[in-house]
Amino acid sequence: MLHFKPKDLPQPQVHKIMLGGIAPRPIALVSSLSEDGIPNLTPFSFFNAFGSNPPIIAFSPARRGKDASLKDTYNNLIKTKECVVQSVTYNMVEQISLASTEYPPEVNEFEKSGLTPIDSDIVKPKRVKESPFQMECKVRDILSYGEGGGSANIFICEVLKFHVVEDIFKNGVIHPDLIDLVSRMSANFYCRASGQAIFEVEKPVLKKGIGYDKLPGFMKKSHIYSANNLGKFGNIENLPDENEVDKFINEIRDIKFENYELGEEAFFRYERHNNFRYMLKSVLDMEKGNHLTNVQAKLKIYLEMTAKSALEANDIDFAWKTALYAGKFL
Ligand SMILES: Cc1cc2nc3c(=O)[nH]c(=O)nc-3n(C[C@H](O)[C@H](O)[C@H](O)COP(=O)(O)O)c2cc1C
Repeated sequence: MLHFKPKDLPQPQVHKIMLGGIAPRPIALVSSLSEDGIPNLTPFSFFNAFGSNPPIIAFSPARRGKDASLKDTYNNLIKTKECVVQSVTYNMVEQISLASTEYPPEVNEFEKSGLTPIDSDIVKPKRVKESPFQMECKVRDILSYGEGGGSANIFICEVLKFHVVEDIFKNGVIHPDLIDLVSRMSANFYCRASGQAIFEVEKPVLKKGIGYDKLPGFMKKSHIYSANNLGKFGNIENLPDENEVDKFINEIRDIKFENYELGEEAFFRYERHNNFRYMLKSVLDMEKGNHLTNVQAKLKIYLEMTAKSALEANDIDFAWKTALYAGKFL
């Protein structure tokens, strides 16, 4: 590992390290006005939300790295105290990048970026039409730390009005695939937060998961389960008892699966297709046929592979019962 104190490194190096390790960061596209009414539009990835009652967000137009000067957004907001903050989607990322050019204060970045200004309802700065999520804000507090290049100026803002495009909702939730946001990583890297990048983790808050420490020792020692798998197993409230496991196993034994094939080769084919029901059936048949060498150890591994496959497909009950059954083959 590398170990260092920020004071021992040049500021650009500290900045670079922070950008790499604190990521992905959401991007605020901030629209503001100068005292003379000149529009400004700038992306900031030192940005997040901090509460919803009232809705509070904050972003930081830091001092410029090269000469420690203050950015136009800072100079505008310190005086006018109003802005519109919008989320950035994949289809506008090149335009917001263009808006990040260090144009002089008299240049209108709506024009430079080609993004479309539309009237706000409460504040004077315009909204960006292309963004499906826009927040009209007033500045509540400004916190500054340091005087040199890269030093933070945190604008803490209260959201006075949200504007959200209707078709990004699915079942009452803004769906990541529909809003298709981008975030900032290190250097020139961005991250598109949709498609393959999205996955779900069931919230543990509603129930009291047994926790990693209460998992059976044979599961923790498994070479098949990953740390993520064990974390997910630990999110169950009550373990199935022996009778439930036996009943479940017998039910699978009795099912006549369509186009089902016997043997190890078929097992691995089912595994490639995450077909955990057929996998279990196949292991139970191997157990019955007992035609494997080193049977016990192999059965345990195959059952764990099956439990893992069910777990990753979110069939937690199937996964747990299979995992506990695997404990019989120690
Ligand atoms: C995606 C992205 C995120 C950025 N985030 C920040 C940031 O959080 N803070 C900052 O000071 N500059 C950030 N920048 C750089 C500013 O956008 C850039 O300095 C801009 O020219 C400042 O504009 P202004 O002087 O009109 O306010 C970012 C640039 C990009 C492209």
